Amino acid sequence: MRPFIFSQGGNLLSVPYPRILLLATLALTLVGCGGPADPDSPEGKRQAVFKQFLHHSEPMGGMLGERLPFDGESFAAHAEGLVELVEAPWQYFPEPGDSKQRNAALPTVWSEPAEWQRAIDQYRNAVTDLVAITRQGVETPEQVAESMAAVQQGCRSCHEGFRR
Ligand code: HEC
Repeated sequence: MRPFIFSQGGNLLSVPYPRILLLATLALTLVGCGGPADPDSPEGKRQAVFKQFLHHSEPMGGMLGERLPFDGESFAAHAEGLVELVEAPWQYFPEPGDSKQRNAALPTVWSEPAEWQRAIDQYRNAVTDLVAITRQGVETPEQVAESMAAVQQGCRSCHEGFRR
């Protein structure tokens, strides 16, 4: 009986080991390159700007859907937020070099500079068109729906080509 019990005990102990190792490896991986980018690095700076993009565009989208009540003044204020930031991220895409900061930019940002520039221009044009409308005062969702859709398309199409 005894050896059997021992071997059972041994099995019970040995089973968790690979899991513990796996968890330890995962934890190390997270510390190594899965944590947030250093806020002072180019990656950290551009990601902070993109979060601001979202901070503005998200409620705007919500107001045009069912999620938030439409408020023309607030919509216009967020449009100003977008136009203020429209040039902000692009300076923070230096050649990647040997940076190990967490980031989701695709190598196409650097290998296809003309396409990258076109995506930036398309987005800038959409935001400029939007504020041309919101600066005249926004009363109804219909006034801004089309130009906001173009802005969101600007976000989306750039992400499709240049973000993982
Ligand atoms: C011209 C290209 C381009 C446009 C336009 C663009 N993005 Fe991005 N976005 C990127 C790239 C590239 C990344 C990945 C950056 C990184 O991980 O360092 C990114 C990352 C993000 C992130 C993740 C930031 C983080 O915390 O890691 C958010 C959120 C985001 N974009 C929102 C938006 C929104 C909202 C818009 C439009 C209002 C927008 N982006 C327009 C290229 C673009």
